[in-house]
Amino acid sequence: MIKSGAQVKVVCTPNALDFVTPLTLSTLSKNAIYSHFFVKETGEWVNHVELGKWADAMVIAPCTANTLTKMANGYCDNLLLASYLSADCPVFFAPAMDLDMYLHPTTQQNISDLLRFGNIELPAVEGELASGLVGKGRMCEPEDIAHIMTSYFQKEKTLSGKTILVNAGPTYEKLDPVRFIGNYSSGKMGKAIANELASRGASVNLVLGPVTTDGIASNIRIVQIESAQEMYQACSEIFTTCDAAILSAAVADYRPAIQEDHKIKKKTEDFNLEMVKTIDVLKSLGEIKRNNQILAGFALETQNKYENALSKLAQKNLDFIILNSMNDTGAGFGKETNKITILEKSGKKHTFDTKPKKDVAIDVVNLLATYL
Ligand code: CTP
Repeated sequence: MIKSGAQVKVVCTPNALDFVTPLTLSTLSKNAIYSHFFVKETGEWVNHVELGKWADAMVIAPCTANTLTKMANGYCDNLLLASYLSADCPVFFAPAMDLDMYLHPTTQQNISDLLRFGNIELPAVEGELASGLVGKGRMCEPEDIAHIMTSYFQKEKTLSGKTILVNAGPTYEKLDPVRFIGNYSSGKMGKAIANELASRGASVNLVLGPVTTDGIASNIRIVQIESAQEMYQACSEIFTTCDAAILSAAVADYRPAIQEDHKIKKKTEDFNLEMVKTIDVLKSLGEIKRNNQILAGFALETQNKYENALSKLAQKNLDFIILNSMNDTGAGFGKETNKITILEKSGKKHTFDTKPKKDVAIDVVNLLATYL
């Protein structure tokens, strides 16, 4: 990494120093080594918060079973863990351990927890292990780690300086203290768009309905809401400070007219529910949109898809609309893939094949980037 022009500071766990001397690491990194909360000789405090803020990326390699467990559970009993907990940059971790330790359900659970928190895994590889056994658990090769880091930073930060709002997921409309009306949206498409925007340097605000925050990059600001009204409040407030917004959430169109304070009891044979319209979040943003703001939405259709999408594009004052049809296999709620057509206000139409949502997000962000 030094050879590629990076500035490197090394933070060691106390155990790491049994394997490698501070002198080696400081000579190679051209910086002092950090291993304790205090510098022993002077008693000076090491500011782990500053270390975490200084870095553009943190790489934990090798990441032992012990450190992995502590990271996944928020332990803070050494300087490395304190720096990890304070870091607001992307964190890469390279598991390295014996094969059975690697395969142990606890380790696998910890790895998936770390991914869920937005960390990036540099996966272990198969090969000879310190124990003499051969299998998976060997640290990703240093050259490969350096290569992954270089490509990560080479991804052009074309959207840096841009602030973008994305919404995703369903809304839940409360009926009584134990029931709601909701939908099957998983939020995966919106999360993928938010991640793609963030990877290009945008500052991203994600207003998310009641779904898990798994897989969202750690540098995305998440505001979690439940109802359409809360979605409206959060989005309309954030939008005023944004350069663009892409609204992908499956916001409920109607909510129960009355929200009961107590559980509704089963008394009568029939039960009729009165519903009232919710606010259209996207339309309301279209009404307050400034000339220098870009607004895009989704259209989920089952029939007359182009006609309906074009009328939403016009009525909601959008720059472009992303149409997905529930009739296409590989598209829609909960799926890992999507098939979209983008219709622009200018009349241009872009059609795309069915692809993983992560790649669909690239297509959407490529188009948004031309506006910004
Ligand atoms: N939308 C919204 N607020 C609502 C309903 C929809 O912001 N109360 C947004 C969605 O996030 C999406 C777009 O409007 O970006 C279109 O949503 P869609 O469900 O396709 O259409 P609707 O406008 O709800 O109309 P209809 O259900 O009649 O098709």
